[in-house]
Amino acid sequence: MQLKIYDDHHKLSDAVADEIMSLVKTKPGAVLCLASGETPRLTCQLFVQKVKNEKLDISQLTMIGLDEWVNIPPSNEGSCHYFFKNELINPLHIPEKQVHLFDAMSDKLENECRRMDALIRNNGGIDLMIVGIGMNGHIGFNEPGVSFDNYSHVIDLDETTLTVGQKYFKSKATLQKGITLGLKHLQESKKVLLLANGAKKAGVVTKTVEEEVTNTFPASIMQTHANGFVMVDREAASLLKQKN
Ligand code: GLP
Repeated sequence: MQLKIYDDHHKLSDAVADEIMSLVKTKPGAVLCLASGETPRLTCQLFVQKVKNEKLDISQLTMIGLDEWVNIPPSNEGSCHYFFKNELINPLHIPEKQVHLFDAMSDKLENECRRMDALIRNNGGIDLMIVGIGMNGHIGFNEPGVSFDNYSHVIDLDETTLTVGQKYFKSKATLQKGITLGLKHLQESKKVLLLANGAKKAGVVTKTVEEEVTNTFPASIMQTHANGFVMVDREAASLLKQKN
């Protein structure tokens, strides 16, 4: 794992958008997995601008959504579906067949998990996985205590996630479970970028990078990835011992 520190959220997001651009240029048929949330929003917006400016052909790209709130419909502005529609699918007119998101309204969530696992396997694995980090150290909905060996699964959400998660919703949402890719997917991804910005993420970034690798703090798994990059802004790096 490597640590990369940027002056601010904009510079960080620009570097991540460039990473996606160069992935598509070197491998047009790549498989890209993306998180939703506040952290990668600017990355998505900058990527959209860059694709338009350079008229980049993204028609071969396969996109996979990292996770979704169970029982929250795609029309809800707090859903991950809504985020991807708003930030990428609509602005770039990406055909639905290129984008694979968990159907968290399904009454067969187990089948959804196996469908996503098979899709990733059949497409040769994930080339680039871009994730954020929750205030409890989760990645996607891989909550504290999760097995590092899981592929896609449904999980009861941790108290912190239930509280912090309300920030995405206009009115109080009934949150209980999440459906998510697993940390085995992360370990098997050819490249992983974990993004964090802002002072409020400084504590979890330190635990991710400088403390023990443990499933009670899932993001610490990043330390074990040979091609893993923790990309943060100065504020999120402010509590690190190693700042260079
Ligand atoms: C959310 C999602 C994650 C996301 C993380 C951080 O609950 N399940 O996929 O990366 O928490 O979100 P944010 O970027 O909004 O801080």
